[in-house]
Amino acid sequence: MTKVVTLAHYYTIPEVQQMADRVGDSLDLALFAKESNADVIVLAGVKFMAETAKMINPKARVIIPDLGSTCSLVTMTDIVKLKQWRESYPDHVHVAYINSSAEHKALADWTVTSRNVDDIIAHIYSQGKQIIYSPDRNMGAYLNFQYGYNMPLWSAVCEVHDKFNKQALDELLNEIVGEKYVIAHPESPLPVLQQSDYIGSTSQLLSWVKNYSGNPEAVILVATEEGILYNMRNARPDLQIQQAPIYTGCKCNTCPYMKLNTVEAVKAAQNQGGGLEIDYLSEEVMERAIIPINRMLSFSA
Ligand code: 13P
Ligand code: SF4
Repeated sequence: MTKVVTLAHYYTIPEVQQMADRVGDSLDLALFAKESNADVIVLAGVKFMAETAKMINPKARVIIPDLGSTCSLVTMTDIVKLKQWRESYPDHVHVAYINSSAEHKALADWTVTSRNVDDIIAHIYSQGKQIIYSPDRNMGAYLNFQYGYNMPLWSAVCEVHDKFNKQALDELLNEIVGEKYVIAHPESPLPVLQQSDYIGSTSQLLSWVKNYSGNPEAVILVATEEGILYNMRNARPDLQIQQAPIYTGCKCNTCPYMKLNTVEAVKAAQNQGGGLEIDYLSEEVMERAIIPINRMLSFSA
């Protein structure tokens, strides 16, 4: 019998998370794919996550429920220009955020996720090397600011996190009487991150909420995609958890690509009757791209 495993990212809708065998952040999904002995992995997330799972576990058939589930960090990056940029820094180590295509990873020395990026970059610098960082300009700007690095940055953004806005956040913070906290994903713009009490990957933000032991009346504003607020509110129904505002003041920031993982699309993929199978990557790209992925997995395991 065919063994099918469904992995879901925290940004998928609650009903899809409930259909999954495992739910996690990008690093979790890569590690789940590595340890899985399934014949078929349904990846309820976005395409770069499914491509990564396929490269980590090439024996499994990996299916993404909707072929439109891309990511702006991927679509904003022209691979020919990226190659030229990379070649203009021949002595630098190229660190690529996992939110990138397989072709992009094939031009990198390391991949990182939002959970291990701080540690991996510190590790590379500790070896006396210079680094270029792609594709997330916001995350790179944050790392340069936070640690005093001077990494040349590729210029793409997450179209979702880039909408969080310091002015709207300041206005809301001024309106809230009493204690308040801001926790944020590092794909957010630097001025928002500078206002934040804690910065981390989706699973780290969730852990922060789970472990929060302060005043239960405090308002916790979360600068990341709204899907994970379901997990946060489930874990801590006693807390006042709200999404941070976008530039219009609206607390309504969702990833259109993650939301393509509907219940129907996930069901069809589980029955191998729909979605996109990741069977189009060339041997050459897979062999090259797995090198930076494996470096990251060995570091983070
Ligand atoms: P995490 O690795 O923190 O889950 O981030 C994935 C992502 O796409 C954020 O927008
Ligand atoms: Fe990409 Fe942003 Fe969506 Fe994450 S939230 S998948 S970075 S577009």
